[in-house]
Amino acid sequence: MPSRTSYTSDTPHVSRTSPASEGSGTTDVLVVGGGIIGLVTAWRAARRGLATALVDPAPGGGAAQVAAGMLAAVTELHYGEETLLALNLESARRYPDFVAELTEASGRDLGYRRCGTLAVALDADDRAHLRELHALQQRCGLDAQWLSGRECRRLEPMLAPGVRGGLRVDGDHQIDPRRLAAALVTACERAGVVFHRVWAQRLDVDGDRAVGVTAADGTALTAGQVVLAGGSLSGRLAGVPPELVPPVRPVKGQVLRLAVPERYAPFLSRTVRAVVRGGQLYLVPRENGELVVGATSEELGWDTTVTAGGVYELLRDAHELVPGITELPLTETRAGLRPGSPDNAPLLGPSGLDGLLLATGHHRNGVLLTPVTGDVMGQLLAGGPLPEEARPFTPERFGAPRTQQLEQTV
Ligand code: GLY
Repeated sequence: MPSRTSYTSDTPHVSRTSPASEGSGTTDVLVVGGGIIGLVTAWRAARRGLATALVDPAPGGGAAQVAAGMLAAVTELHYGEETLLALNLESARRYPDFVAELTEASGRDLGYRRCGTLAVALDADDRAHLRELHALQQRCGLDAQWLSGRECRRLEPMLAPGVRGGLRVDGDHQIDPRRLAAALVTACERAGVVFHRVWAQRLDVDGDRAVGVTAADGTALTAGQVVLAGGSLSGRLAGVPPELVPPVRPVKGQVLRLAVPERYAPFLSRTVRAVVRGGQLYLVPRENGELVVGATSEELGWDTTVTAGGVYELLRDAHELVPGITELPLTETRAGLRPGSPDNAPLLGPSGLDGLLLATGHHRNGVLLTPVTGDVMGQLLAGGPLPEEARPFTPERFGAPRTQQLEQTV
């Protein structure tokens, strides 16, 4: 997770070169950023036969190393995000096939669990909040069943006796983002993606077209198309025309990891979410015994400090929800940066500068949106039209001019 203030590093450049880039030193596609969004974009591009490179000092790192991996299109629904909901649901629908394909391509297990989610309320205010969420879900035609507190505890006996009610959503699943990232790295390698393990320092523009990037070690990486997929850092690449800089900001999330010893298993059988005094809390139990507890949401710039206050609040609320949690070993505390955008939705597609596309701003939904983002970007990079589901999410909605590239795709 980046905690630095500049989009540079002195990490050494690894000089693996794909057959496609030998001699010319150029590729069809260059992806800037090796988080899960950059990786899935590179994988999909390479699978379409495009010579593809990716520039990042540590591919597979970034927010996926912190994220809990909820695929919570229904339980993480927010007012005013109904357009985003359609994209989230579409990506959730694609998840089973995506997991099967990536498992096959990488030979790795992704920790995908079709376990469902229970969202619960602890006090009267929380219950009112959850009732409103249920009403919104019903208006959107989503499947969510209201349960009494007793019914919630029957499903999850470790819940506190005071739980006032909840929503059972059997369609909200989970995946292990660390395994997802590792699998995408392997799949990219197997598909021939070239990794430049160095920071991208500057976008290179020739006339009115992006033509590549200059890496921090001075190497010029040229490409027919550049995809900026730098997560929360996407607005910091030098050389992007100021009016086209993606409006992406870091939103800090602190997350805890605990281990469930054999004798307590199954501690929880599904993801449990709650609103506790207005704050979002979730507990994501993995099959391997890991229990992820998240997350704070803090607008503190590039700060990734794990604070006593952050850990305290998460544990305090988690203890209220599931008192037995204080018996578990605490194995990890970590903070990451979500790439927030002004409307909490991603920026997908042409940037406004020919040759430069964006795949960024996924905010709380990067893991969920990985399959659909890969499909959309793969199709665009191969010269296809902008897919219907991506049309509300072009950078144009934030004022980026319509490019020749976008004219051709819609
Ligand atoms: N989607 C969970 C989070 O952003 O905390």
